[in-house]
Amino acid sequence: MQAMAAVAASAVAPPSAFAVGPEKDAEDSWPGASGQNRERLQAFNENWRFHRGDIEGAEAADFVDSDWRLLDVPHDWSIEDLPRDGDSGIGTIWTDAAIPVRTGPFDMYASEGEGATGWMVGGVGWYRKKFRSPQSLSPGGKTELRFEGVYMNCDVWLNGAHLGNHPYGYTEFAFDLTPHLRADPNTIAVRVNNAGRNSRWYSGSGIFRKVWLSVAGELRIPAHGIYVTTPEVAADTALVNLAITVENGAAGARDARIRTRLLDAAGVVAGVSDVTLTAAAGATSTIACAVRLQSPRLWSPQIPYLYRAEVVLEADGKAVDFTSVPVGVRRIEIDATQGLRINGEKVKLHGGCVHHDNGPLGSKCIPRAEERRVELLKANGFNAIRTSHNPPSRDFLDACDRQGMLVVDEAFDCWEAVKNPDDYHLYFDEWWRRDLESMILRDRNHPCVILWSIGNEVNERAEPRGIEIGKDLQAFVHQLDPTRKVTAAITAPYDHPNLTWQDMQPAFTYLDVGGYNYQIADYENDHKKYPERIMFGTESFPTQAFAVWRAVESESWVIGDFVWTAMDYLGEAGVGRAGISRGPARFGGLPAYPWFNAFCGDIDLIGDKKPQSYFRDVAWRRSKVEMAVQRPVPKGWTEHGSGWAWGDELRSWTWAGFEDTPMTVRVYTRGDQAKVFLNGKEVGSKDLTEQDALKAEFTVPYAPGELKAVAFENGREIGSISFRTAGKAHKLKMSADRPKMRASRDDLIYVTTTVVDDKDQMLPDAVVRVSFTVSGAGEIAAVGNANPKDVASFQHPQRNTFHGRCLAIVRPTGKAGGVEVRAESPELGSATLRLDVM
Ligand code: GAL
Repeated sequence: MQAMAAVAASAVAPPSAFAVGPEKDAEDSWPGASGQNRERLQAFNENWRFHRGDIEGAEAADFVDSDWRLLDVPHDWSIEDLPRDGDSGIGTIWTDAAIPVRTGPFDMYASEGEGATGWMVGGVGWYRKKFRSPQSLSPGGKTELRFEGVYMNCDVWLNGAHLGNHPYGYTEFAFDLTPHLRADPNTIAVRVNNAGRNSRWYSGSGIFRKVWLSVAGELRIPAHGIYVTTPEVAADTALVNLAITVENGAAGARDARIRTRLLDAAGVVAGVSDVTLTAAAGATSTIACAVRLQSPRLWSPQIPYLYRAEVVLEADGKAVDFTSVPVGVRRIEIDATQGLRINGEKVKLHGGCVHHDNGPLGSKCIPRAEERRVELLKANGFNAIRTSHNPPSRDFLDACDRQGMLVVDEAFDCWEAVKNPDDYHLYFDEWWRRDLESMILRDRNHPCVILWSIGNEVNERAEPRGIEIGKDLQAFVHQLDPTRKVTAAITAPYDHPNLTWQDMQPAFTYLDVGGYNYQIADYENDHKKYPERIMFGTESFPTQAFAVWRAVESESWVIGDFVWTAMDYLGEAGVGRAGISRGPARFGGLPAYPWFNAFCGDIDLIGDKKPQSYFRDVAWRRSKVEMAVQRPVPKGWTEHGSGWAWGDELRSWTWAGFEDTPMTVRVYTRGDQAKVFLNGKEVGSKDLTEQDALKAEFTVPYAPGELKAVAFENGREIGSISFRTAGKAHKLKMSADRPKMRASRDDLIYVTTTVVDDKDQMLPDAVVRVSFTVSGAGEIAAVGNANPKDVASFQHPQRNTFHGRCLAIVRPTGKAGGVEVRAESPELGSATLRLDVM
């Protein structure tokens, strides 16, 4: 929130400017929107007209767009059902193998990104919006339109005048509207060009983050005009420094007074500062002010305590601008001897990489969806996220601040060297400074951000030109934020066949912290050669979870590890697929269509925990024992997969049709012995040593009943787990992640429908078609399941369950009231859930 709050407040903020209420939702949390002055910062998200496809002349002010679709942004057209041709029946074209090649948002032939972008379709789209000229525009004032993110390559016009272009899809940008505003109405036109092969993952298309209209007077605090640092942090006192920038649009110099106060979480004033400055005409001036806190409450992953700094800009005794930013008081120290410390306490990064999409919602940045992702990861043991491979949304970082999730904030997936013909390499030279600046100015006040990453596996990482670039980027980052270290993800020379890991070493010369992608085997050797180097796993295989964590726990210089990935994501289809082949295991590369989901995450596409996450619970010492059963592999066949593929196992002892078949049962524990019991009878016992890497494998012929595993340590039972055979599918059961939501388009409720037997036990592998109806104050924002190859609409209110469940995401229409969600299947009847919108 604080990023944009820096442009907050107005030409005339009343004396009560400090009296900002508690955050209600994203819109309300802007001071300008909280009642006192709605003009200063206006949400600009409703009533856009949208056209999918290119169209001549749509930038013109008088272009007729009345037949275009009316919608709200954030919006992602690539996740929406493709327009249907009249002659294709219900809109599905089938292959010989009865897999639809064009269905929902998927089109095997039209998708330029192919499996990389999950077979969804980019292309060109247009948005237009009419608006009234801001009333409070004063001479010397400035009206800006600020986009939090548009994927990608967008051009913006106001009343037919071209304001500019912004290529990178993940950085915030703004245009000054002032010179082109006219008597009502004004028309903004935005052309978004997501054509070509420009991404290695699903990007989504369109204005996928929020838009704001900022209306400032002649003396103002510009966007991101506050930079907060906490140079002294101790138990009894802390110093909060604020560098405050003032912009003066007037023809003459202006004297200004800047009053700042720091409020604690209860709204009580904890410290103040009062300074004056003379702002030069037509220029920006920055002034430092300091607030001393006594007995500060510190921000940490365990207790993410947030203060709020409120800043009022006054001229001639009147408040003329106002802004507020959350402040986390914390001290980060990192070195190779003691590792990472937050407020003096050692922390190991239990990390996961995530892409930015929200599964069935696509890349649409709805604040609750962003918050939920952080919640899910926190609940599953993660304390750190690497925002691979681009700046995340502001809402995502706000959620990380509030929940105590540490962040490695990453800028780029490529520099000058190409990964895909139409990717950011085309723009890097011209844009990297502006994009890096946009990311750092927006994000540097977030206490959650602990490291900046300047790149991921860039091709030129160890070449002379790459080193030059790396050094420039590192220096620029330090100039904008001297308080944090710089990293990047370096990997083996898979893209330079004749080189070795040793040849990659020059890449570390421009990094403060060495990011290792999949190079765990080199930690030890590298440490001997470069004892000062701080290392961490910027990426690791899920299948190596134990080995990487052992290294993290035992070596002070290894500060953590980030699995690829913490959550399933759209695109990079099938990276985590486990297949089967006749004879010995043969890895055949990535699967083809209809796989559209990477499937390598700990958490699946709809938010449920996958077997690898249970294993991680054991590796991370959060659970004493876990168990999984491999789906039976036909005789003479072997399961295979890359390091990202966990294997097709389920937490299930429901295998009807496999009676007497030898089943592979895996018990995961840090104990030294595991026993397995079937229907009360011991059917196996194994001792575990370090070599077993926390895994004891048993063969148990299938018979219905109860399968139980017990783990022991020195002969003492430390834990047990059991699965019971479920009966026949009996009914649908519904549950919601929360019973209530706010009457805000920023909120969502995730409703899960589960297939259960007559004892309410879930059928862990059931596939049932479920249809949804929603009535009342909500609507279906998306439906989905976790199946990585079930190509179907995310909008049509119907889904098959996968592993026994499917999801409907419910969004308030905007009014308070009740919502009724009904799920129905022909075989199992219907279930209903009532939700409240407050
Ligand atoms: C890594 C890369 C990631 C992802 C992963 C799995 O090398 O950095 O972005 O592509 O491989 O395929």
